[in-house]
Formats: sequence, C-alpha cells, structure tokens
Amino acid sequence: MTALHVASTPADAASAAPHLLLDGVSKRFGRHAVLSELTLSVNKGEFVCLLGPSGCGKTTLLRQIAGLDAPDAGRILLNGRDITRLPPAARDYGMVFQSYALFPNLDVAGNIAYGLGGRRADKQRRVSELLALIGLDDIAEKYPAQLSGGQQQRVALARALAVSPSLLLLDEPLSALDARVREHLRREIRALQQKLGVTTIMVTHDQEEALTMADRVVVMHGGRIEQCASPHTVYREPASRFVASFVGQGNWLAGRALGGQQAQLGERVLTLAQSHGLANGQPLSLFIRPEDLILHAGWSASRDADLAEVRKLELLGPIYRVGLHVPAWGGAEVQADLTHAQLAELELTPQRRVPLSLNLARLQVFAAEVAPCGA
Ligand SMILES: Nc1ncnc2c1ncn2[C@@H]1O[C@H](COP(=O)(O)OP(=O)(O)OP(=O)(O)O)[C@@H](O)[C@H]1O
Ligand SMILES: [Mg+2]
Repeated sequence: MTALHVASTPADAASAAPHLLLDGVSKRFGRHAVLSELTLSVNKGEFVCLLGPSGCGKTTLLRQIAGLDAPDAGRILLNGRDITRLPPAARDYGMVFQSYALFPNLDVAGNIAYGLGGRRADKQRRVSELLALIGLDDIAEKYPAQLSGGQQQRVALARALAVSPSLLLLDEPLSALDARVREHLRREIRALQQKLGVTTIMVTHDQEEALTMADRVVVMHGGRIEQCASPHTVYREPASRFVASFVGQGNWLAGRALGGQQAQLGERVLTLAQSHGLANGQPLSLFIRPEDLILHAGWSASRDADLAEVRKLELLGPIYRVGLHVPAWGGAEVQADLTHAQLAELELTPQRRVPLSLNLARLQVFAAEVAPCGA
C-alpha cells in the first residue's frame, strides 16, 4: 500500500520545487562578510545570471554551489537534496571558468573525455556527439594552444556538459574574448542551454550579457541580492538606486517631494504616475532613462515641456545621445537618446533650443538620503 502511495505522488509536486535552492547562505573571509544570508531559488531549465560589480561575491557564491568552498551558514539544495557539505565530485554539475583551463597536454577529445568513465568506444561516441553539439567536429585532435579563445571556451563548455550534469555553472566564460566572438558565443550558449534544458547559473559583470542571455537576472551588491527579476523588470523597474545605476544608462535629477503624487523639479511641478510615499519637502532622486526623455518639435505638443539647450550630440551607432541643459529643472544636465529619424525631424544641432519633457510613466523615484551611485 505504501509503495502504491509513493508511486502516485504527483510529479508536479517535484517539478514545482526549485531545482536549486540557496537558503540563507553566508560566507566570511576573516572579518569581511562576503555573502550575507543570500536566498535564491532557481527553477529547472532556467538560465540565471549573477550580475554585479567586481568584488560583490559572485564567484564566491558560485564556489559555494560547486563545493569548492563551504558556507559558514545556510543550506544549498540541488533537486531537493542537501548538498551543502558534499564534496564537488558528489554534486551534479559542470563548470566553465573565465580562463579556459583546458589541459594543455591533452587534445580536444582528451579534454572533453576527461571526466567520462566507461568503455573507450562509448567515450569516443560521446566526444563526437559533444563536438557536433558545439559545432567543432573537425578539431578533435588539436591541442588547446592550436585553438582560438572562442574555440577553447566551446571545448570547455563541451567538457562541462560531457557527463550531462543537471546544473551548469559558468564564471565569466566570455570575458576573455573579443566583442564579436563574445556576442556570437552568447547566442550559441543560450541556444545550447535551451536545447539541453540544463539549469544554468552564469556569473558576469557585463550587464548587456546578463540582459540578453538570462531568464532572470540576480543583481548583487556587497554580498547581497539587490534585485532578482526578469531582464525587462530589472531594466524598467530597478528595485534600488544601486540597480538603477548599475544596469544601463540613466539620468538622476534632484527633486523634492510635494503632497500626494507630486514632486518639485526645479521650477516644475510633476504629477507622478504613483504616489512617492515620502513626506512633504523630503529630498528625492528622480531617475529616468535617456530613451524616456521626450523632445518636442514644437510647443503645441506638450504643456509639460521646458526649454532645453542642446549641448552635445554623440553618435552611438543606431542612436544619438543628446546632451541637454535644462534651466527650469534646476539647471540639470541630462542625456536623451534619439533615433536618426527623430534627430533629423527635430533638426537638432548644438546650441539649438528644444522643448523637453519627461515620460512620467517611466520616471522612478528614490529617497535621496545618499548620493547616487556612479553608473
Ligand atoms: N579565498 C579568499 N580569501 C579572502 N578573501 C577572499 C577570498 N575569495 C574572495 N575573497 C574576497 O571576497 C570578495 C568577493 O570576491 P569574489 O571573487 O566573489 O568577487 P566577484 O564578484 O567574483 O568579483 P569579480 O567580478 O572581480 O570576479 C572580494 O573582496 C575578495 O577579495
Ligand atoms: Mg569573480
């Protein structure tokens, strides 16, 4: 009877549980708290990026998951199994590091087969499968020194995937590569990850990489998680001043809270999309992305516009970034992004004056007790 009961346990109960759970993980080095009660759950098949500045604890966190280091407190569960104290070999993951870390004395096939057991013929078959998977069928007999950086990282990826791990850990695998190869490999890794459905955690300090690759981005700062959300949400609705500054570009404007949903910006009174929840008179920081500033062709379009003077035009390829000085906003200097078509329509040139307003629906409001973090 018991056996029957166990067999009928709904499969969804297991699939609803996170594939990887970090529960209050803390780690100190001497007096320095590098990870502080970090909690994160990752679903099966998810691609999660750990994003944050140098020294925020990304690699340290990955090392706890890999068992290369042990946390001082907290638990790590993989597939419901507590792996916190298990040695690396008893966990079920593959890992790729920033530096290629291939064995220089082994050829590609030898590198990929390194962790594989079993019969020689089976190993050879698996190596061929993996080489086909990474699109490098013809390099099995080459040595790492004969490969480009991008090829070496693909081999490292194949080696990490050789034992079909349920978890793939990537620590800045693309950072040593040039921009073009990096962009190409981003797509390849993502496609491969989706094809195999392997749960993946990738560390990066490159926000573009995180935004383009991840299902969810975990923004870390000083050993804590500041925000854990989809790339869209992290970019559009940053949860903190730090996230707003670290991810993407933005303008910070010094304002003051007024009653209800209103805020003062220089001479202008803004009616915000949501209540700021701050006391009347309290200083606040208004945050707006360059693409959310609106430049108008004429005054009739908006009564909410103020006169801005064009200070600088900067070509960033597909868009122009326009530097503007706005006397009515307390003399603020802001940057607005425009397409080539918009720029031509507005006939913008340096010194030209143009009506400017804020897309209030996209304005983020933060209390201003500390200075904005550098972007
Ligand atoms: N073994 C160690 N002993 C002492 N301090 C350490 C050790 N490993 C890491 N740290 C410290 O912990 C902090 C976080 O390091 P970590 O390598 O996790 O940062 P990171 O986010 O991966 O940075 P980066 O982007 O530069 O790789 C740093 O201040 C680092 O000096
Ligand atoms: Mg690191």
